[in-house]
Amino acid sequence: MNLKKLIRNVPNFPKEGIIFRDITTILQSPEGLKWAIESMEKSLEGLEFDYIIGPESRGFIFGVPLAYNLGKGFIPVRKEGKLPYTTKSKAYDLEYGTATIEVHTDAFTPGQKVVIVDDLLATGGTSKAIIDLVEEMGGEVVKLVYLIELDFLQGRKVLGDYNVTSLINYD
Ligand code: PRP
Ligand code: ADE
Repeated sequence: MNLKKLIRNVPNFPKEGIIFRDITTILQSPEGLKWAIESMEKSLEGLEFDYIIGPESRGFIFGVPLAYNLGKGFIPVRKEGKLPYTTKSKAYDLEYGTATIEVHTDAFTPGQKVVIVDDLLATGGTSKAIIDLVEEMGGEVVKLVYLIELDFLQGRKVLGDYNVTSLINYD
């Protein structure tokens, strides 16, 4: 299936010079959505882990159905001030700005294994911030799965030796 055809390219959003890869047009397509979830799921076959963890908001869209289908729990990572209980936070840079993310301090126990799921890998800032949070809390990141990767931003360099899979690439 040619999923690139289902991605809408929006120039100069949210800032001049950025081509925004809009996944809402994949979500609108029953076949596209099914392909996206099932393909991401395949990349996790045979892997042992405890949770899927994903960032607000687009990470939730893909992370929750994957966790549900694989019989795992889902850990939400949110922008600051949104999670109600005790949190651990981390600031990071994005392709088009900066942000701080947070996770609940009791989201998992030390030694547990998590998979990071998100719609898109750009600079890797969001994912690296999640990796840092997980590891500082004693967890282990065993894989990262993305629908889209913007190769030219070299997010993989930031992710070093971690096990990374993406399904659609833009160079
Ligand atoms: C986008 C995207 C990823 C992140 C990728 O989220 O969904 O989470 O940026 O960029 P990076 O690799 O440079 O960190 P955004 O923070 O825009 O939030 P949203 O999902 O709520 O739109
Ligand atoms: N997140 C970071 N960069 C992005 C882009 N170019 N399109 C969609 N989401 C993004």
